[in-house]
Amino acid sequence: MVQTDSGYQLVRLNNGICSVRSLADAETFHPVVGPVAEAEALYVNQLKLRERLQNHTGEFVVWDVGLGAAANALTVLRATRDLPCQIRLVSFDHTIEPLEFALKHATDLGYFGGYENHLQQFIRESRVTFQDGQQSVNWEFHHGDFPTWLANSKLKTKNSKFSRPPHAILFDAYSPAKNPAMWTLPLFTNLFQQLNPQRPCALPTYSRSTILRVTLLLAGFFVGVGHATGEKEETTIAANDLSLIAEPLDARWLARAKRSHSAEPMVEPIYHIAPLSAASWEKLSAHPQFQL
Ligand SMILES: C[S@@+](CC[C@H](N)C(=O)[O-])C[C@H]1O[C@@H](n2cnc3c(N)ncnc32)[C@H](O)[C@@H]1O
Repeated sequence: MVQTDSGYQLVRLNNGICSVRSLADAETFHPVVGPVAEAEALYVNQLKLRERLQNHTGEFVVWDVGLGAAANALTVLRATRDLPCQIRLVSFDHTIEPLEFALKHATDLGYFGGYENHLQQFIRESRVTFQDGQQSVNWEFHHGDFPTWLANSKLKTKNSKFSRPPHAILFDAYSPAKNPAMWTLPLFTNLFQQLNPQRPCALPTYSRSTILRVTLLLAGFFVGVGHATGEKEETTIAANDLSLIAEPLDARWLARAKRSHSAEPMVEPIYHIAPLSAASWEKLSAHPQFQL
């Protein structure tokens, strides 16, 4: 539908809401219910962000993987702006273009209200700090290939405690078929190793595929059934602490995974479908989640 003045396009969904579409990747960012409704259901509500922030002292660190047009990040900030809290938002993407495009179409997209000046600074300087009522926001951008950044961070953290591990992760890459590099077992293993075992952290994402769930489990996460979003009847939530998961995957899911024709994690950034290997099954069935 609407304008194209870059590799991105504004599309109007059936409910009248606008979303951004990447022409190169042939993917619409939030294709059914729209950016804000999806971000509220998948991240704000599912992560119980308001509740966690109300019970939290000090900085609360959120990683926003796939900044894109910043709908997830802004929905999180807006949903918690009335709370006295300190949010450190760390956004990752290998391009700032969708955000630049979206900001030019802020009126149609409708979710930028009040944040436009902060975002101009964020785009210019890759960081912005501001106070919004009692909410203080420290937002930084890591521009580059996320899998490479994670692999390098793993090497650095061997020698120094350089990063601030997250309390929550918004994981929003393109679909595995289009963007396999963002869904591999090495990526989620490196991501899990960035977490602090003493700091409970949850990661919801929109897919409910068996491959994704097996990948997260083999990377070390506990994994559960995630909320419906209006777009998907079920999603996935992973965490380093079982208490953050309302409905952990159970023995019935494990039996289905064993029979699935599409369950083996991708080790390389090449999309492929295969049943579980004997080695993966052995590790999966020994996961602590299934020993309870
Ligand atoms: C579905 S869009 C994200 C939408 C965004 N969360 C929002 O709320 O508007 C996926 C994003 O992942 C980014 N991405 C894909 N592969 C990446 C990679 N290897 N490293 C970093 N970012 C990547 C894309 O550039 C794109 O902006």
